[in-house]
Amino acid sequence: MKEVQILATGSYVPDRIVTNDELATVIDTNDEWIKTRTGIGERRITTGENTSSIAAKAALKALENSSIKPLDIDLIIVATTTPDCYTPSTACIVQDIIGAANATCFDISAACSGFIYALNIAYQFIKNGTKKNALIIGAETLSKILDWNDRSICVLFGDGAGAAILGCGEEKGLIQIYTGSDGKGANLLKCNAVPIDINNKKLKEKIPQNADNEGYHYLSMEGREIFKFAVKAMGETIKTLLSSSGLTIDDIKYIVPHQANLRIIDYMIKKLKVDKKKFYTNLQYYGNTSAASIPIALDQMNREGLLEKGDKILLVGFGGGLTWGGTIIEWTIDKQISS
Ligand code: ACO
Repeated sequence: MKEVQILATGSYVPDRIVTNDELATVIDTNDEWIKTRTGIGERRITTGENTSSIAAKAALKALENSSIKPLDIDLIIVATTTPDCYTPSTACIVQDIIGAANATCFDISAACSGFIYALNIAYQFIKNGTKKNALIIGAETLSKILDWNDRSICVLFGDGAGAAILGCGEEKGLIQIYTGSDGKGANLLKCNAVPIDINNKKLKEKIPQNADNEGYHYLSMEGREIFKFAVKAMGETIKTLLSSSGLTIDDIKYIVPHQANLRIIDYMIKKLKVDKKKFYTNLQYYGNTSAASIPIALDQMNREGLLEKGDKILLVGFGGGLTWGGTIIEWTIDKQISS
């Protein structure tokens, strides 16, 4: 049976850079606090483009880097917490923008673990022969669900999109995938949809009216609980992936963690006693872009020429849900690109 491989990567971030110093002109914060607590120096914020638009730009870059044409794509999955609409899916909108008329399209919701979940789903479709070429995208415009007056949360996030094209090949690409969830922690990281109006309860007597929903749809987080969960979930995911694939940490050239917070990554490095140089980070420049963080990092590594055919890399993430997951990939793309 053919193996499932990453054939190409792409990413896109908005041009607008918001530095910590700029944030400090509008909220009570400062560069030193943000950098020491998170490692973040700046982030990109969309100035009008929605999630589908930045997702499509990342997808087109991935297509440019491959021999796959839009009409060859038969599956599009967008992982996002910030879709354009409840319906249609962001994936359907992307399909139309890029002209991938032969694809089945849907979104998935797994917060910052979304790209790993999407990878897993696409892997299953391709492995069982149902689909041939899948486009998976992690894309977020988190800026639209942030309370920009809440310094404890707005400094952490950014907007962006990353994409990968998956297809078949002879060499083993995706070696191992693992995902997990724990709904008991659902309230620790949350962004509400439109609430059931209180008047619905009185539906028998009265037609419901809009509630006062101001602030209801902002992202909220129990920072310290998420911190503990993140260290544990990523550490255990790495151990599980290694033991189930029969590999050791020495076999892995790079670990690409979800880019939430440098302190979380440093803690994990200490706990696992792994060489820090194995961990790729770019959150300094983009903040936490949720489902987009891992594919943006992967594309950047690809473009920087860090990845060589035969390298084993480990992607690992965690997020709201709670969700977590990871994958070990043997890189099958010839040393690439830059642009
Ligand atoms: N600037 C200045 N001061 C601030 C800021 C800010 N941006 N935000 C909070 N503070 C203040 C608080 O008001 C508080 O002040 P007080 O002591 O006078 O009350 C003080 O700093 C400490 O606040 P804490 O919230 O306790 O700060 P903590 O040390 O826990 O750091 C942080 C907060 C960075 C969010 C931390 O909890 C953390 O790293 N959590 C992990 C969560 C994370 O990174 N999530 C990413 C999203 S989740 C995901 O991607 C799946």
